[in-house]
Amino acid sequence: MAKDSLFAKSMITTQDWLVEDLERVLKLAFEMKEDRYSDKYTSLLKFRTFLMFFYNPSVRTRQSFEAAATELGGHAQFLEPKSMRLKTKKSAGETIEDAAQVMSRYGAGLGIRILEDKVPEYGAGDALLREYAKYSTIPILNMADDKFHPMQGLADVMGLRMHLGQNLKGKKLLQVWGHGALSRSWCSIQESLLINSRMGMDVSLCYPEGYDLDPEVIEMVKENCKKTGAKFEITHEQQEGYKDADVVYSRNWMSPNAYSPDGEYLKAKEVEKALKYPEWICDSEKMKLTNEALFIHPMPVDRGHEVSDEVASSKKSIMIDVAENRLHVQKAVMALTMSENL
Ligand code: CP
Repeated sequence: MAKDSLFAKSMITTQDWLVEDLERVLKLAFEMKEDRYSDKYTSLLKFRTFLMFFYNPSVRTRQSFEAAATELGGHAQFLEPKSMRLKTKKSAGETIEDAAQVMSRYGAGLGIRILEDKVPEYGAGDALLREYAKYSTIPILNMADDKFHPMQGLADVMGLRMHLGQNLKGKKLLQVWGHGALSRSWCSIQESLLINSRMGMDVSLCYPEGYDLDPEVIEMVKENCKKTGAKFEITHEQQEGYKDADVVYSRNWMSPNAYSPDGEYLKAKEVEKALKYPEWICDSEKMKLTNEALFIHPMPVDRGHEVSDEVASSKKSIMIDVAENRLHVQKAVMALTMSENL
């Protein structure tokens, strides 16, 4: 195996990977997009199976991973973990140590999605993926957990490069909270902060008081910015956030008080609170404050809450390109981590 091989390497967050390895993924993703069905790629995972555990529903992630496996000559297989008998604090069953080793005998890789409402506390979903990674000999790919969403972060960067060019240094990215009834996880927004700060983007994080993100992740973002010389600010003033932004990423997210002490995810309470901020929506008036910014969103987008229809459907909206990019970046990650032929 070559010294710089990524074979069998898990991806739980892009922050765990070297920037040069992320660049390898992005380069391959652009090549795969250009030459989608080339013989160079269509047998890389021939007869290999990508296993997928979805604790939560998905449209893009499931469809794009299944399509990615097909286009690489393999197959993707879906399991709802409720049909497993895993050991938990409250029930007897199989350990992750055992399940991870058995899955490693079947598949070429294992993808897992587990979001905020399927865990008793923030971070438990990410910890579960890391437990699988500890015992498996195949790569564990994060298909969105309660902290990170690396495939989305890579697709975001690919979309921004398509529209702003290869060098994103010095471009201002606004990541702004949007009101709504979805009470979403922090994974997409935190992954975007991490990867885009490593790409040298100036990041402005804007939200109402009471919607702080994970302080450890914010520290990592500050460190990333120090290394790249990028600016980082947190503001609670939308005017300030939108001013001169080159990219606007509007998204609802839960507050840090979303769990009760006994491990219940308090969705109804979160929604009630979030709907009290109707002025927190990305609309055309606010977009006028920007540097003719692009609009991005990981989708599914909550039109009328996170963003107005006018902005979501405007020529500046690149969210469909970004959604397409999920396929290309996942193909690249799968090829690099699951095929000995790259
Ligand atoms: N962006 C994203 O992960 O979409 P899905 O929830 O539809 O998979």
